[in-house]
Amino acid sequence: RLTVKKITTSSQALDGLLGGGIETRTMTEFFGEYGTGKTQICHQISVNVQLPPEKGGLNGKAVYIDTEGTFRWERIEAMAKGQGLDPEQVMNNIYFIRAVNSDHQMAIVDELQEKIVEDPSIKLIVVDSVMAQFRADYTGRENLAARQQKLNKHLHQLTKLAEMYDIAVVITNQVMARPDMFYGDPTTAVGGHTLYHVPGIRLQVKRSRGNKRIARMIDAPHLPEGEVVFEITEEGVRD
Ligand code: GTP
Ligand code: MG
Repeated sequence: RLTVKKITTSSQALDGLLGGGIETRTMTEFFGEYGTGKTQICHQISVNVQLPPEKGGLNGKAVYIDTEGTFRWERIEAMAKGQGLDPEQVMNNIYFIRAVNSDHQMAIVDELQEKIVEDPSIKLIVVDSVMAQFRADYTGRENLAARQQKLNKHLHQLTKLAEMYDIAVVITNQVMARPDMFYGDPTTAVGGHTLYHVPGIRLQVKRSRGNKRIARMIDAPHLPEGEVVFEITEEGVRD
């Protein structure tokens, strides 16, 4: 394998599960129910990619594609302060893009290559969440095949960017506790969502007591399976 670089999550336990952190040249998926911390993790690594290597970063910038309108600059600010970084500067190093529908989301990724060539310090691409707009735009079983085809193209494009430019790609996917309630869309089920199969690392995030969360490694090709506990605090992700 080519040498991958790693971005810390700010949780030693979670980093350990990931074999050191979020890898470049790889797509990492966090999936889980609502409120499990997927978006918080995305915010945290958008800050952490900016850290110097000795602190677990890549001195890099982030592209943050928000498809659900849940990105919060205030959270970035709090997390930057939590890392002893200048919040102004940290915010300047995040290219924030709001995707309003699935075609727009795909178009954004189409145009990313140009942006990355222009600014090689981009070391992280976040898509939070990858599925929401596709689920909204392709409803009903009859559109499932068309949706999966588009989605696969989108995911392969992201993977290609990761590999070509030594970038970490992080995507999220919300799955339901009771998929049977969400008429006939098997991709909302834990496990069922692997209908789109792209290489990469997949972690399930689950709720635990209070601010505690559990992350579980799911069929990673080169990492052992296992579970760890982390926490979401005012300052961000922690052990
Ligand atoms: P969906 O997008 O709905 O699928 O959920 P998600 O997995 O993205 O959840 P998200 O990352 O939005 O997590 C929300 C949880 O993070 C909240 O329930 C809080 O526990 C925690 N959280 C969010 N903001 C703060 C904050 O400012 N302070 C603290 N302490 N916790 C926060
Ligand atoms: Mg979210």
